[in-house]
Amino acid sequence: MAVPLVIAQISDLHIKPPGELAYRKINTALALTRLIANLKTLTPRPAVVVATGDLVDSASEAAYAHLDRLLAPLDLPLAAIPGNHDDRDRVRRLFRGQRYAQRSGAVNQHLALDALDLFLLDSSVPGQPYGHLDGTTLLWLDASLAACADRPALVFLHHPPFVTGITHMDRQNLRNAHDLAAVVAGRPRVRLVAAGHVHRAVATVFAGVAATICPAPNHAVDLDLLDAHAPAFRAEPPAFHLHVWFAGDGFGQLVTHQLPIGRFGRPRPFFDAQGRPL
Ligand SMILES: [Fe+2]
Repeated sequence: MAVPLVIAQISDLHIKPPGELAYRKINTALALTRLIANLKTLTPRPAVVVATGDLVDSASEAAYAHLDRLLAPLDLPLAAIPGNHDDRDRVRRLFRGQRYAQRSGAVNQHLALDALDLFLLDSSVPGQPYGHLDGTTLLWLDASLAACADRPALVFLHHPPFVTGITHMDRQNLRNAHDLAAVVAGRPRVRLVAAGHVHRAVATVFAGVAATICPAPNHAVDLDLLDAHAPAFRAEPPAFHLHVWFAGDGFGQLVTHQLPIGRFGRPRPFFDAQGRPL
């Protein structure tokens, strides 16, 4: 069987300076360490790990230095984009080995894997919680997608370009989602729009394209669909996404798996050596 191409997506790490807890309760450093331990056990190994923003909780040098140390054990290629909690220039400096599409401003990136294009878009707006894609980013994405018609492409950004039903998060999603829709709609090579920001697993269709939100390795945003209480988080099972692409006719097949973070023992067979159910 052909080995599929695997892309791990992690999101909303919210790393604090050493010794500090997020919201005085969540040890986000420990959560990232556990996530990295899980990433290192994956087979096949991911071709790349994409971190979709909110890498730190508040964008201090101390927080980014802590993030850098926590990421050291990760023995996989990593590409990161900023979220609303990040400072795009500090992200650019921390991952300075990356080939960014522009020298300044939005931290956009194109990763050309074997048979797959990844476009990482910087939707952060300095000083604001909501997202926006600037004109340079949209023009670059449009030209990049137009440059080729037959390679499947995945688009990553921090802010979801759709609502989730959680009002306080929807107020700070991608404000110009219609501009992104205009670029990806009618381009069949775009197979997925993958976001973060909401700390929950979500799946929908955006501009005719499958779209997901990656859960977080730490706290979840509470699923309050009635806007019944003040914005709140909850200690739900931490998780991340694996986007798995199988070569095939047309654009092949992309599936997204959600993996819980933790230790769950070794795989145990369903059947004995004679094929009888155990
Ligand atoms: Fe965010």
